[in-house]
Amino acid sequence: MDLDYEGFKKNIWQMTGIDLSKYKEAQMKRRLIALREKRSFRTFSDYYQSLSADKNMREEFLDRMTINVSEFYRNPSRWEVLEQKILPRLLEERSSLKVWSAACSTGEEPYTLSMILSETSGISNFSILATDLDEHVLEHAKNGYYLEKAVQDVPLLKKKRYFSKQELGYRVCDDLKKHVAFKKQNLLSDSCGNDFDLIVCRNVMIYFTEEAKTALYEKFSKALRPGGTLFVGSTEQIFNPGLYALETEEPFFYRKKEK
Ligand SMILES: C[S@@+](CC[C@H](N)C(=O)[O-])C[C@H]1O[C@@H](n2cnc3c(N)ncnc32)[C@H](O)[C@@H]1O
Repeated sequence: MDLDYEGFKKNIWQMTGIDLSKYKEAQMKRRLIALREKRSFRTFSDYYQSLSADKNMREEFLDRMTINVSEFYRNPSRWEVLEQKILPRLLEERSSLKVWSAACSTGEEPYTLSMILSETSGISNFSILATDLDEHVLEHAKNGYYLEKAVQDVPLLKKKRYFSKQELGYRVCDDLKKHVAFKKQNLLSDSCGNDFDLIVCRNVMIYFTEEAKTALYEKFSKALRPGGTLFVGSTEQIFNPGLYALETEEPFFYRKKEK
């Protein structure tokens, strides 16, 4: 056992509430060793001493351990399935939708949802709760400002309708923003709401241990209303959805069973 790293995990947990042991060890350790070495510390214990006393180093650490890459319409064919198959079914059951974008990073995912839902007929109202562990990405998301490259995959009509052109990029319009509430939340330890019609959690579970994933599937299942749907990332299939009262509706979409 690597006592140096074990001690570091414990210290980080006490300082931030983030439990590194719930993330796949080899991957996480490799990233953190690279960071530690960049800062010229030989051990995690020395690295922690400095990190605990230096805000910039803490921010750098959080930035490195959370991988924040996101895109509008990430994996477009999945969003088509949402639009064409899942939403019409959800809307047969309710006209007002309560949605959670879990681990939303810099906001591309909840704003994609907001665009899609704004254009779906038959919706009387919708709200999107968008959560992430990292306050920095949430600030970016709330601001809603994106460089040209980040919006290149947004369909042209939608770009015109929902963004205003700025000098170097685009800003999301208030009509999209008004449906989205951003909130800091650790998926692995904080409580969450309930009665969601749709939970979108993509490209984060891949970093978690099997044990952490199991606990999260249970959490999501409880947070969904019966008939509600969990939408996961394109490498994040759930192998035994029935264990969590879920059933496969389409690949990467899991419907909560009726009681
Ligand atoms: C790769 S991004 C995914 C963004 C978006 N869902 C997408 O698919 O494009 C992963 C996000 O998960 C967040 N994250 C990592 N661990 C988390 C945790 N325990 N609780 C909440 N968010 C977490 C990171 O801060 C990061 O913003």
